[in-house]
Amino acid sequence: MLVNGKPWRTIWAEDGGQAFGVIDQTRLPHLFETVTLRTLDEAAHAISAMIVRGAPLIGATAAWGMVLGMKEDPSDAGLENAYRVLLATRPTAVNLRWALDEVRAVLAPLPADARFEAAKAKAEAICDEDVALNEAIGENGLAIIRDLLPKAPKNRPFQILTHCNAGWLATVDWGTALAPIYKAFDAGIDLHVWVDETRPRNQGANLTAWELNSHGVPHTVLADNAGGHYMQHGMVDMVIVGSDRTTARGDVCNKIGTYLKALAAHDNGVPFYVGLPSPTIDWTLDDGVKEIPIEERSQDEVRRIWGKLDSGDFGWVTLTPQGSAAGNPGFDVTPARLVTGLITERGTCPATREGLAALFPEHARS
Ligand code: MRU
Repeated sequence: MLVNGKPWRTIWAEDGGQAFGVIDQTRLPHLFETVTLRTLDEAAHAISAMIVRGAPLIGATAAWGMVLGMKEDPSDAGLENAYRVLLATRPTAVNLRWALDEVRAVLAPLPADARFEAAKAKAEAICDEDVALNEAIGENGLAIIRDLLPKAPKNRPFQILTHCNAGWLATVDWGTALAPIYKAFDAGIDLHVWVDETRPRNQGANLTAWELNSHGVPHTVLADNAGGHYMQHGMVDMVIVGSDRTTARGDVCNKIGTYLKALAAHDNGVPFYVGLPSPTIDWTLDDGVKEIPIEERSQDEVRRIWGKLDSGDFGWVTLTPQGSAAGNPGFDVTPARLVTGLITERGTCPATREGLAALFPEHARS
């Protein structure tokens, strides 16, 4: 997507693949800075410190981390070490394991001296594939928006609510939940986006708002608790979110707070869609609530908030009393029964085992 008129992806090769570059997402929306990652440990740190984040981009970064791992030690032991180090960075987004498995499957049969070049080619392919999958999600989501348009009031823009950041910053390009929004906006559909701020890390307020602003998409940032109120008053025509892991029966794990929005949408008859590329589907799991590992993050993310101060400096502000403990689960699971449809690169299906199996018969289990 464009930043100040220049096209960007979120991840790119540098020095002929001896390193790779990413956008530092901990600095947005106030500073647009890039970082060069040169070692396996730097790549792993970029994921765990959330310099990069979002399920598809975590996978793409892990693929590039394997490239750096092969630069450092292409032996069998080096391959297993790189896989292990990267897999340990974040537990919930299954795209991480998917990308690592894809790269390892290519490298394992090769002699050590062929692994670096092969890892580069595979990492490039994973990134290019991610762009294509997300653009297809955009087209398939645009068709849903066109279907819903006639049912929405004519005296105002079509109103879409989204949670967290499932835009191009969370992927290599386009985004998942935001791809249909970009496609619809570019097609001239009059729309407006409600952006949940998404406490505690504020990916909505910081990243989604920055993206939409850069693309000129009309939007309003909401306190996380406001969405249900707007739904009750007929001001939300559709919800679209992304996913970090969706099970074979259609349970959707996404950023903490997604479940509450799905409950509110269900209660108010608002269609609740999930945009996800197939590497986000965990075909080994069924019951998302019981089976998906949920990342528990630092209490400090709840107790404190980072931002731009009135002085123009950046800083942390403490919100809670010193003695208060804080809970910080990074994700929650929305049961399939609350999901209107899953928008994938192959089309949109009901959030059911049969729906997913019809789109991806090669993964269907009896
Ligand atoms: O903790 P994050 O910022 O990595 O969480 C991101 C999300 O929850 C996104 O909604 C999800 O990864 C889908 S991204 C296309």
